[in-house]
Amino acid sequence: MKTTAAAPGKIILFGEHAVVYSRPAIAVPVVDVQATATILDLSPGSGCTLIAHDLGSQLRLSTTGEDDALGLIVRLTLDELALAADPDWQIEIRSQIPIASGLGSGAAVSTALVRAIFHHVGLDPEPETISRLVYRSEELHHGTPSGIDNTVIAYAQPIWFVRGEPIRTFVPARSFTIAIADSGIGSPTKETVGDVRRAWQRDPARYEDWFDEIGEIVHAARSVMESGEVAALGPLMDRNQTLLRQIGVSADPLERLITAARNAGAAGAKLSGGGRGGNVIALVETETAPAIRRAFLDAGAKQVLVTTVIGDRGLETGD
Ligand code: MEV
Repeated sequence: MKTTAAAPGKIILFGEHAVVYSRPAIAVPVVDVQATATILDLSPGSGCTLIAHDLGSQLRLSTTGEDDALGLIVRLTLDELALAADPDWQIEIRSQIPIASGLGSGAAVSTALVRAIFHHVGLDPEPETISRLVYRSEELHHGTPSGIDNTVIAYAQPIWFVRGEPIRTFVPARSFTIAIADSGIGSPTKETVGDVRRAWQRDPARYEDWFDEIGEIVHAARSVMESGEVAALGPLMDRNQTLLRQIGVSADPLERLITAARNAGAAGAKLSGGGRGGNVIALVETETAPAIRRAFLDAGAKQVLVTTVIGDRGLETGD
């Protein structure tokens, strides 16, 4: 028997970093890039082999250590289902999602693996179960992540995320399009989250004020998405970016990409995710998208993905 399952990438639109301090954040799935896991039954006694095509690695599950993210999520899922610790399976993993760029490649691979294992034994996992298991593997890379990545990828819907509160998915009233530019520089999330924590400990009042301001922007962004006045998202992105710069997680290459997108007609732009590297996002329209894509590439982006967040009124973006 052969089972395949997939999971999308994700992008944070508003609220990164402040979300670690219990302010809200908004994130959406990016379905244009996917991770997939395929399970094939092997003959009895073969044990479990993990083949990660994009990493060029092939491992036996029984020899993977606690610090191996793929082995960890497979073991956690087998354990959850009370299955044999070393099933006779070949598990193949493929991903189109750039690694360490803020598109949630690790969480997407883990989600695809959890789904594939459940499906292979005839079960359909609840998003909540996937999210809980994937969070455990995310801890390996990110220390104590807020949980936003695993949540948006497991639910595969736009989410309003507040740490420790029940998940709320929502559908924007109107579709809008963003361009996602990969700076080509890895985003050291664990490091930026740690630096922000140390800076917050030194000057809690100032950082709490900035996190409050980010929280207000995220609330405003949600109202705008729900009312369909999506052009207003641009200035909100710009304000969020100013605050991200103030809290110390921007970097010159990201600022260059942001300026280039704005100069090419983007209604707003900001970094997305942990910062210092990773992605920049810009609000674009059908007419401005090609020029903004070009501007991003000219300003050093390694690749640009233009993706539409589908609203209630489908793909129609005008009146
Ligand atoms: C990283 O994708 C987003 C951060 O807010 C960290 C987190 O939420 O765990 C920077």
